[in-house]
Amino acid sequence: MRVFVTRRLPGDALDRLAAEHDVDVWQEQLPPERGELLARVPELDGLLALLTDQVDAELLDAAPRLRAISNYAVGVDNVDLDAATARGIPVGNTPGVLTDTTADLAVALMLGISRHLAEGDAYVRRGEWRTWETGLLLGHDLHGATVGIVGFGRIGQAVARRLEGFGCEVLHTSRSGGVALGELLERSDVVTIHAPLTPETRGLIGDEALARMKPTAYLVNTARGPIVDSHALARALHDGRIAGAALDVTDPEPLPAGHPLLEAPNLLVLPHLGSATHATRERMAGMAVDNLLAGLAGERMPNCANPEVYERQEA
Ligand code: DGY
Repeated sequence: MRVFVTRRLPGDALDRLAAEHDVDVWQEQLPPERGELLARVPELDGLLALLTDQVDAELLDAAPRLRAISNYAVGVDNVDLDAATARGIPVGNTPGVLTDTTADLAVALMLGISRHLAEGDAYVRRGEWRTWETGLLLGHDLHGATVGIVGFGRIGQAVARRLEGFGCEVLHTSRSGGVALGELLERSDVVTIHAPLTPETRGLIGDEALARMKPTAYLVNTARGPIVDSHALARALHDGRIAGAALDVTDPEPLPAGHPLLEAPNLLVLPHLGSATHATRERMAGMAVDNLLAGLAGERMPNCANPEVYERQEA
C-alpha cells in the first residue's frame, strides 16, 4: 500500500513500515506545503503526519483511498477527528511515551524563568559579569511554591509528582475535580498548562485569566500555544502584571519576527521541545509506525485517538 510520511523520523522504525509498504518520506526540513499534501493524498492508503500538518475535511475528501492516519504526537488538534471518524478512518497518536519527558521540561521551564537561567547565560556571554553581586538576577524559589496545574491528565500528574520533591503545594483543575480555575490562578506562584487544545481550552488564558494571577507569578505552557492568548500575554508582560512566562509552545508557531511576545520582558521561549529527547522521539516513531501498520492491516490501532471509529465499524 502507498504511504506518505511527512518528515524523516528518528531511529529505524520507518524501516519496518518500508518492509511492508511502498513508503515515501518527505526529506525537507520544512513541512510539505498544503498544495503538495493535497496533490499527494489521492493516491495514498496511509498517512503518517506531524503536528504541523493540517489533516482536515478538505484533505480527507481528496483522499478516497485513505484507510489509516498516524499522528506523530499525542496531541491531535491538527487532525479533524470527527471528519476522520465520519469517513471510517482511524487516527493513531502517541500517548504515554512522552509524559515524563514533557513533565521534565515543564519543571525546567519553571526553574529557568524563576531563576533567570537564560538571562544569566546571556549576561556572562556578553562579558558583563565582573564580580559576585548580592543583588544580581535575584529570582523566586520553586521549592515551597504553590503551583497550579491546569489539566490533570498524564502529563499534569507527572509534573505534580516531580513537584512533591520540591515541597510545592500543588493545586489542579481537571474535568473531574480539583479547584476552580479562578481560585487556581489567584493562589498560584506558578501556573502550568497541561490541557489538550480543544474548543473549550482555546484562549483559556487571556486578559481576564492573566488579571487574576499574582503579579509575582509565572506562567508556563508546554501544552499547545493557542490555549494562551499571545497578545494578552504580551500585554501582561509588558505592563509587569505577572512576573514572567516560559513557553515551549506559542501561537503561532514559530512566532514571526516583530511579534509583541518576542519583545516582551521576562519571557523564556523554546521551539516546542517538550518531547525532544533521543529516546522519546524514537519511541514515538515506533508507536506511530505500529499504529499505521495496524491501521493498514485493518486491525485495531494500539493507540487510537478516535476509537469510536471501531464501534461504528462493528455496528
Ligand atoms: C505532542 O506529542 O503532542 C507534542 O506536542 C510533541 O511531541
